[in-house]
Amino acid sequence: MKHFTSVHDIGDLNDAVNEAFELKQNVFRHNTLGKNKTLLAIFFNSSLRTRLSTQKAALNLGMNAIVLDVNQGAWKLETERGVIMDGDKPEHILEAIPVMGSYCDIIGVRSFAGFESKKDDYDEKILNQFIKYSGKPVFSMEAATRHPLQSFADLITIEEYKKTKRPKIVMSWAPHPKSLPQAVPNSFAEWINKTGYEFVITHPEGYELDRQFTGNAKIEYDQNRAFEGADFVYAKNWAAYGDPNYGKILSMDKSWTVDAKKMALTNNAYFMHCLPVRRNMIVTDEVIESPQSIVIPEAANRVISAQVVLKRLLTDNY
Ligand code: CP
Repeated sequence: MKHFTSVHDIGDLNDAVNEAFELKQNVFRHNTLGKNKTLLAIFFNSSLRTRLSTQKAALNLGMNAIVLDVNQGAWKLETERGVIMDGDKPEHILEAIPVMGSYCDIIGVRSFAGFESKKDDYDEKILNQFIKYSGKPVFSMEAATRHPLQSFADLITIEEYKKTKRPKIVMSWAPHPKSLPQAVPNSFAEWINKTGYEFVITHPEGYELDRQFTGNAKIEYDQNRAFEGADFVYAKNWAAYGDPNYGKILSMDKSWTVDAKKMALTNNAYFMHCLPVRRNMIVTDEVIESPQSIVIPEAANRVISAQVVLKRLLTDNY
């Protein structure tokens, strides 16, 4: 694996999950693999889980870890080529990236969709410049269109908790006061589609995601019907994808909040969310605090997904 930006880079999913389970038995088994190797984790956006779990994964492998918050303490970066740089951005990303690459062995990048240009977002303009100009293996810590470390952790969690060979997984849109990118739902859909499990996506009309990610998933506009018989409910908000509403909030309908009444329609489903989650918008206190809520083990598995990815990048590139 040269880079890790999507499910397409991970190869066979069973192998990846088995490797994750093996690592989980003893996270220090490969604690010299990363000796004298440096991870540089670059954040263009805020993070709690990704920041901590990725550093922890690197430390478990014996790596050094440096974290850069681009918007706090670093020079503001110009990302457009050809711009006359007489504004508030003193450094161009085309110098900054190779410089950062010269200080490390593996680069993680978090760069969300900006919602200013759908083309730039869906071309993964920032992430791809790191791949092109850093000269180092690059992995996504959530980019404009995907969050593969999260989806991998989600899959590990589903494999740990599933009670049937082919569980029914429902990804449900839920209301949120801010425009959120489609990266988490796109990516979750892409990973779950690869498992062959029963997969239903439910959202109000107008929130259709890009078909390149949702594939053959069943789209159900009736949330109650979608929840019937579900083994896992994966809640998430996202802003509209379709034109001309790209990046816009079309609904704040609180009847879509995941509550106990809706969870009662399921097959005693586990509740999942990538976090951070806005309580009583996305999910009620009662559901997220219930025994069926697995959001904490799901977040804990972020160390494991990051560690499998870093281990493979180290093994395959050094
Ligand atoms: N789920 C997730 O990526 O969390 P952070 O945004 O806190 O990193």
